[in-house]
Amino acid sequence: MMKIIMGCDHGGFELKETLKKVLIEKGYEVEDYGIHKQERVDYPDYAQKVGEAIASGKGDQGILICGTGIGMSIAANKVKGVRAALCNDCYSAAKARQHNNANVLCMGARVLGPGLAQEIMEAYLNASFLGSYHEGRVEKIMALEK
Ligand code: RB5
Repeated sequence: MMKIIMGCDHGGFELKETLKKVLIEKGYEVEDYGIHKQERVDYPDYAQKVGEAIASGKGDQGILICGTGIGMSIAANKVKGVRAALCNDCYSAAKARQHNNANVLCMGARVLGPGLAQEIMEAYLNASFLGSYHEGRVEKIMALEK
């Protein structure tokens, strides 16, 4: 079963807790890098922690949640090896895996309701990279890191 590493700031805390329960119920292995209580923090710190863990192979997929998902995705994409996708709809979530081979899903808790956020997460986790001609494009993205 896939190992998921989660992180959030104060804007995403409640939704992270909700989605973590869903993942555990579904049998995923979940590691939670915080926050663990409602407190004001800086989202780049959590994007970095989760991003580095995913880039170094400590987990299969990362999930980062802040108020909009924007700050988390900008910050996570600065970590080498991370392909973070901000998805606020199910179609984009599936395509992020299929076409872009994303390894971190970012969502905005102040944008989404919990029901839609769960469906987005499921669409993302249930999809997989299609390879083929998408491979070369993703390689070109990764070459931008050099
Ligand atoms: C925190 O207030 C908020 O700025 C943060 O959660 C996020 O939306 C940043 O992109």
